[in-house]
Amino acid sequence: MMRATLSGVGVLVLLFAGGAVCAAQTLREHADRAGLLVGAAVEPRYFSEPEYAATLAREFNMLTAENVLKWGAIRPSRARFEFGPGDRLVAFARKHRMKVRGHTLLWSEYNPRWLVEGGFTPAEMSAMLREHITRVMRHYRGKIFAWDVVNEVFLADGSVEPSVWYDRPGIGLKGKGTAYVEQAFRWAREADPDVLLFYNDYDTEGINPKSDAVYAMVKDFKRRGVPIDGVGIQAHIVDLEAKDLATMEANVARLVALGLQVHITEMDVGLPVDAAGRPRDEAALGRQAEIYRQVAEACLRQKGCTAFQTWGFTDKYTWIPDFTKGAKGLPLPFDSRYAPKPAYEALLEAFRRRALTP
Ligand code: G3I
Repeated sequence: MMRATLSGVGVLVLLFAGGAVCAAQTLREHADRAGLLVGAAVEPRYFSEPEYAATLAREFNMLTAENVLKWGAIRPSRARFEFGPGDRLVAFARKHRMKVRGHTLLWSEYNPRWLVEGGFTPAEMSAMLREHITRVMRHYRGKIFAWDVVNEVFLADGSVEPSVWYDRPGIGLKGKGTAYVEQAFRWAREADPDVLLFYNDYDTEGINPKSDAVYAMVKDFKRRGVPIDGVGIQAHIVDLEAKDLATMEANVARLVALGLQVHITEMDVGLPVDAAGRPRDEAALGRQAEIYRQVAEACLRQKGCTAFQTWGFTDKYTWIPDFTKGAKGLPLPFDSRYAPKPAYEALLEAFRRRALTP
């Protein structure tokens, strides 16, 4: 009797769970059930657009500032910190019970002119970087759960890129490889003992000289107790054919094996478009969906890959056409009228399956 009843109960639980999962309709609901984060990069200036706000809050449980938390936006002058747009972003997230990822405290690009052309000494740059990391992180403490502390320091061959923070003039650690990255992580941990600290980069999906350099740096940091919690893999796929996705799962697995979390942080898949912005080949939308599925599954199959994020979410607002001078576009899961594309269906299916996997 007991046994029969148990299996009866077991069946009931499964039906209920299956029912709950089957009841899930949106990306967010499937992600919530899988205990995962699904996010998008956003611009607060679009929050007043009803369909932008509604689609974002319905489909995602996490968001990131595409630009408003970068030096170029948050530091109009040496004395001033412009927290307004970032605060609006945090307020939107709080209203819709979404998590906020911070991007980024140190990057070679989008730095204010007063800093880049200021003729500062390495000692002055060092003091300003420490002040910036401390002030910005303290302002968002308890409101941002993870930060891209450092973004994009490696070149394709794995060497360290020259930059205002490394050697032009740098913060006094010129010629010492990633020592300036380590310093930034140590200041970040001092500023906030609880937030997750990430290193973020592009063209590091599969195993290649650049992702090997990232792996070597974070493995060394973990070994020496440098505070770091995770690695962000951007997954910008601007050329449908180019990417080495075949080794992506192995790359994610080796990072997770170091005890680090992995986040897919900036996914988009640019399609060749004509002068009117229409896809040159309708079939490319299917290929795009296949790539979204591949990257999502390479992440979702690894327990340590805890967040999947796209760089924007609607084709209406994306950096790709400017960057490709109009050659590419339509890179995101929703079209410019906020209708779901095959890419969205591919993500939905990947998260639905993940939510069913105990
Ligand atoms: O805010 C100014 C505005 O006042 C001015 O009128 C306008 C015209 O020049 O420029 C606006 O700033 C632009 C900013 O985006 C906000 O829209 C900058 O020119 C433009 O360069 C900046 O581009 C951003 C780029 O990073 C540089 O920060 C893109 O939107 C953003 O998608 C892109 O994101 C990066 C990630 O941070 C790191 N990984 C690669 C990714 C794509 O490049």
